[in-house]
Amino acid sequence: MSHIILDIENVKKTFGGIIALNGINMSVESGKMTMLIGPNGSGKTTLINVISGFYKPDEGRILLESKDITGQSLSKVSKQGLVRTFQIPAPFQKLSVMENLLIAGGGNPGESFLKAPFKRAWRKQEAEIYERAWKVLELINLKLPDQFASNLSGGQLKLLEVGRVLMTGARIVILDEPASGLNPTLAHQVFEHLDDIKKKSGLTFLVVEHRLDITLQYVDYVYALAQGAVVSQGSVAEVMNDPKVIEGYLGVSCA
Ligand SMILES: Nc1ncnc2c1ncn2[C@@H]1O[C@H](COP(=O)(O)OP(=O)(O)OP(=O)(O)O)[C@@H](O)[C@H]1O
Ligand SMILES: [Mg+2]
Repeated sequence: MSHIILDIENVKKTFGGIIALNGINMSVESGKMTMLIGPNGSGKTTLINVISGFYKPDEGRILLESKDITGQSLSKVSKQGLVRTFQIPAPFQKLSVMENLLIAGGGNPGESFLKAPFKRAWRKQEAEIYERAWKVLELINLKLPDQFASNLSGGQLKLLEVGRVLMTGARIVILDEPASGLNPTLAHQVFEHLDDIKKKSGLTFLVVEHRLDITLQYVDYVYALAQGAVVSQGSVAEVMNDPKVIEGYLGVSCA
C-alpha cells in the first residue's frame, strides 16, 4: 500500500531580496511519479535543491518517511535513500555499462587488495553487487552490459543514469528535466521505461519537467508552482484545466 514518503512543510527560501520559495507544502506518495511544473523562475530547481540538501531552507521542514531531514547535507540525505540524478556523476565514457553500474553500487574491484584481510567478506559483497547490477540492467531494459558508455544513445545514457541511481539503493529519485535534449520519440521511450521501473520496483519519482505534452501521460500527481508557491495540485487533468495554471503558463487571464 502506498503512503507519503516525502513531506514538505511550509518551506521558505530567499536569496537576498528574492523570495524563491514562499511557504511550499507538498506530499509525495511512495511508488508514484509526482511532477513539478511551473514557468521559468517559479522555484522548481530551488525546491529540489532544498529537498536534496543542496540548500538549507530559511523556514519549514522536510520529512523523509516521517524523519526530519531538514538542513542535512546532500550526502547524508542520499544515504537515507533520497537521490538526485546529478549527484551521481555522469557515466564514465570509457567504461562499459556493467562497470558503470558496479562502480555506482560501490563495487570497485580495484579496491579489493585494500580489503585483503577480509577477502572472503569482500568477495561476498562483490557478488551481491554484481547480482544487483544484473537485476538493475533488466529493470532499465538496457541489456548491453559490455557496451561502452560512449557508444550509447542519448536516451540509453539517461537510462544508465537511472540505473546508477538504483544501484545506490535509492527509494526516491529526483529527476531534473530527464527529457531535456531528447527528441519526442526518445523522450517518450525514457518516460515509458521510468513508468515500467516504477511499476516493477515501487520506486518513487519526483520529476521536474517543462515538456508537459510528453510527460503528463506517465504522471500520477502534479504540483504547479508559480512565484514560489503551489498554485494548483491534483491529477493531470485537474491541473491542466485549472485556470490558474493556464494563466501561469500562457499568460492568459481566465478570470
Ligand atoms: N543561487 C541563487 N541566487 C540568487 N537567486 C536565485 C538563485 N537560485 C535561484 N534564484 C532565484 O530564485 C527564483 C526561482 O528560481 P529557480 O531556478 O528555482 O526557478 P525554476 O522554476 O527552476 O526556473 P527554470 O524553469 O528557469 O529552471 C528565481 O527568481 C531565481 O532568479
Ligand atoms: Mg530550474
